[in-house]
Amino acid sequence: MRLFKRVEALQRHLQQRKTAGDAVGFVPTMGALHEGHLELLRRSMRENQCTVCSIFVNPTQFNDPTDLAKYPRMPEKDIAALARLGCEVLFMPWEEEIYPQGKDTPTPEVDLQGLDATMEGVHRPGHFAGVVQVVHRLLEIVQPDRLYMGQKDYQQFVIVRHMIRQLGLPVRIIMCPIVREADGLALSSRNLRLTPEARAAAPRIYEVLKEVLAQTARQPDADLEALAAAAFAKLDQLPLKPEYFEIVDGTTLQPVRTLDEADSVVACTAVWAGDVRLIDNIILKWEADEEE
Ligand code: PAJ
Repeated sequence: MRLFKRVEALQRHLQQRKTAGDAVGFVPTMGALHEGHLELLRRSMRENQCTVCSIFVNPTQFNDPTDLAKYPRMPEKDIAALARLGCEVLFMPWEEEIYPQGKDTPTPEVDLQGLDATMEGVHRPGHFAGVVQVVHRLLEIVQPDRLYMGQKDYQQFVIVRHMIRQLGLPVRIIMCPIVREADGLALSSRNLRLTPEARAAAPRIYEVLKEVLAQTARQPDADLEALAAAAFAKLDQLPLKPEYFEIVDGTTLQPVRTLDEADSVVACTAVWAGDVRLIDNIILKWEADEEE
């Protein structure tokens, strides 16, 4: 595996691969790699001759400085996992390589059209502006053919897809399914911080999401706002404390009342498990659009 910390050296390597006609797949991460990240990388390695993983804990997407300070960092372990997997390139940049003019380095104007005004956007002000800023910069550096992102962060996926379309960037974005523990808990670097009691309760989140899916499969004209409210109430049992449970149009992220109101419909939730905030979602209806 080749490890690059500088943009120039990375680009020199990638230029050789591109000149040889090889496709480049890109998986941006913040490290503390788990099976969820590794699945994105495996898919990229199947579909591209060259795969680039980046590890950069992006300060501009953390609205809470203690969250940034507590974010797990384990570069040696990550490097070993990527080498074992056979990932060709790891880009682990210094902060000044990403933000040469400081953290206020301007990003092209992207009108998020309210996509950042719901769910995670409400509870984490400024978060998605930071995500757009860093993903745009990383795409500018790597210029991949394909970008792989997880369904786990569904709103993030929709916002990055929107940015790519609005700016007309020449990259295909591919959404990969959520990887879970055997008991259903979605893998996340935050799971490491769960107390035994919170860890024992956390699989309930996926159970409730699956119950919503089963209900909509049984009754396609179900009132989704009522289902969301009932799901919220089921999750509201200590040590779990839901922050939101919303059933939304998979493209606009606006709440929908029935399944036939949108081509895709996704149930999304954020739940505090003790003092750890977990997010999860389930697709209730999916119609891939022509570019996917
Ligand atoms: P991070 O949380 O490290 O996640 C990197 C990628 O892994 C994201 O696309 C995320 O959706 C995906 N992922 C995380 N857990 C997953 C799981 N259980 N199953 C499937 N995919 C999973 O998301 C970020 O980093 C950052 O915001 C980033 C996009 C790198 C920008 O800084």
